[in-house]
Amino acid sequence: MPAVVVRPSRAEDIDAIQAIYAHHVLHGLASFEEVPPDAAELAKRREAILAQGLPYLVAEIDGRLAGYAYASLYRTRSAYRHTLEDSVYVDDGCRGLGVGRALLTRLVAECERWGARQLVAVIGDSGNAGSIGLHAALGFARTGVLPAVGFKHGRWVDSVLMQRPLGEGDRTLP
Ligand SMILES: CC(C)(COP(=O)(O)OP(=O)(O)OC[C@H]1O[C@@H](n2cnc3c(N)ncnc32)[C@H](O)[C@@H]1OP(=O)(O)O)[C@@H](O)C(=O)NCCC(=O)NCCS
Repeated sequence: MPAVVVRPSRAEDIDAIQAIYAHHVLHGLASFEEVPPDAAELAKRREAILAQGLPYLVAEIDGRLAGYAYASLYRTRSAYRHTLEDSVYVDDGCRGLGVGRALLTRLVAECERWGARQLVAVIGDSGNAGSIGLHAALGFARTGVLPAVGFKHGRWVDSVLMQRPLGEGDRTLP
């Protein structure tokens, strides 16, 4: 396995992030977007994440950007304020090398430090073995499935919900 270095993202990473995400938007079912956003749009989204004090990380192999992950509010209404959602995308050529595990491990730690109590994954496609396997490996339990809420690449697509507590979870009040 190559050495994977995880670090906070920088503004100049955005073109590489855009290339990784565009591939998954165009060819995969993990994202329910169908038109790849350009780098300027992704830069705006990144700034919004950082403005909330939330983590936006990248992973490198040999100095080359191999994947990225970030946390966002699960939903914006106020009672959801202790719950975050994770997103993780790995360069198609770097899958299976431990990049997703390295990113999500660090992201979980940073979400705990932020003070969140629950972390949710909204995974496009019941057949997304990579994402379901990665989240299960990091302690997420499958909490539900929304059947056929998406339609992409000519077929109905499920959302799989997975979730793990952070810190004291629901054992104490915030
Ligand atoms: C899902 C994704 C992030 C996984 O990243 P990755 O770098 O390939 O995963 P890793 O090599 O770090 O694997 C970590 C663990 O995940 C699980 N896993 C990864 N790929 C898997 C697969 N194809 N099938 C089953 N389990 C898998 C394994 O438990 C693995 O642990 P192991 O290496 O000890 O066996 C990556 O495949 C990806 O970007 N997929 C497309 C986008 C996507 O689905 N993103 C998630 C959105 S919620």
